[in-house]
Amino acid sequence: MARRTAKFVCQSCGYRSVKWKGRCPACGEWNTLVEEPAEEENLRRIKAPERPRPIYEWEGEFAERLTTGFRNLDAVLGGGLVPGQVVLIAGEPGIGKSTLLLQVSERFSRYGKVLYISGEESGNQIAVRARRIGVFSENVLLLPETHLEVILNAVEEENPSLVIVDSVQTVYSERLESSAGSVAQVRETAFRISEACKVKGTPAFLVGQITKEGTIAGPKVLEHIVDTVLQFEGERFNFYRVVKAVKNRFGSTGEVAVFKMTDKGLEEIEEPSAFFISERTGSPGSVIFPYTEGSRPILLEVQALVLHALYTTPQRRTQGFDVNRLSLILAVLEKEAGVFTRDSDVFINIAGGMSVREPAVDLAVALAVVSSKREEPLPEDIVVFGELGLSGEVRAVHFGDLRLKEARRFGFERAIVPKNLHMEDTDIELIPVSNIREAIEVVF
Ligand SMILES: Nc1ncnc2c1ncn2[C@@H]1O[C@H](COP(=O)(O)OP(=O)(O)OP(=O)(O)O)[C@@H](O)[C@H]1O
Ligand SMILES: [Mg+2]
Repeated sequence: MARRTAKFVCQSCGYRSVKWKGRCPACGEWNTLVEEPAEEENLRRIKAPERPRPIYEWEGEFAERLTTGFRNLDAVLGGGLVPGQVVLIAGEPGIGKSTLLLQVSERFSRYGKVLYISGEESGNQIAVRARRIGVFSENVLLLPETHLEVILNAVEEENPSLVIVDSVQTVYSERLESSAGSVAQVRETAFRISEACKVKGTPAFLVGQITKEGTIAGPKVLEHIVDTVLQFEGERFNFYRVVKAVKNRFGSTGEVAVFKMTDKGLEEIEEPSAFFISERTGSPGSVIFPYTEGSRPILLEVQALVLHALYTTPQRRTQGFDVNRLSLILAVLEKEAGVFTRDSDVFINIAGGMSVREPAVDLAVALAVVSSKREEPLPEDIVVFGELGLSGEVRAVHFGDLRLKEARRFGFERAIVPKNLHMEDTDIELIPVSNIREAIEVVF
């Protein structure tokens, strides 16, 4: 029996123990002992080994990309799914992961059976959702199950064209004693499902729950095992949703897909820029920033609210932007431009629920803060981008042409850009700035 031979192995130094311990007696690290399946079983996993061959002899192309039925989602994946590709899709509770994957199941069923395994909800619950959003294909097979070995059998027997596991944290293997959702179980589940899918050339989506802090629940190795990690973002109480790739072995990670949640499920938004800036009022503290991390630029509205602090410790709160980065920008504003916010509460919001990590947004955030503090709006026809350095310098960023083209398309006429941005000719007026002081002077 696997149960008796189960071993706990320190992930830091390799120490083995038959019992779980909070602290490794060998290296002294805390919480590093993780259950691993018995060794004989591990050995059995090694199949007929491959022979080393020159690299050009290996297949270098994927025969086809399989479409998920959502154009934007395909773009995020790098052009669709590759046979055997395992995609982890993570997001807050209630954001719409199960809904999206149910819709993908329906659309993907053109290729054959889709096996939807649910460990979280009963067949009944899913059937209700399926009727609401109009999933009726006889090729969409639903299996409420949490037992890994049963799931693997079903994959073997049904030979589906797509496997969906909702969620990886609810599945457990008999070979381990720890409960579902533990580091060991999550790793085992992801590993064995990936292995099965790779052998059969079947793509799979694994739903991943995320923790309170917003990271994917389970070990970091989970992200290493899978080929692609998609992040599902948005505010639960609002209707827009954004899916982006944070890791992709088969494409770039810059693409984003924007959806709208409706009672019929998720709908793709074809013009995200129009959507994200649609509610702009032109009041102080609002700056339009052309965001892009890949081929698809989106205009976003950065909003700042600066007001006299209520308590002795001023607050810094952000939505969709790193709060530490905000502190840094406020420090630069004080030191290099004499804009003091020490006695003010500062709030930053990226309207529409997108979260922005690229540093190109720095200058937009800084100008939004200044605009709110001075209670002076920016001219309506201006977009802003550039990274801010510690000495107040505005640094060049990537994809200048893409950003400007999108801004132009939406009728913006001027752009505040880094001085070092090398642009040939554009039909938008460029206002190059080399530091934050200059940027403030040209705007206000
Ligand atoms: N009738 C409806 N009309 C519009 N939206 C709905 C309706 N019913 C549910 N929703 C939306 O669907 C969301 C739930 O979607 P779903 O169950 O796919 O999320 P999930 O990410 O799988 O959540 P969990 O992590 O709990 O499994 C709700 O938060 C709500 O926004
Ligand atoms: Mg769900």
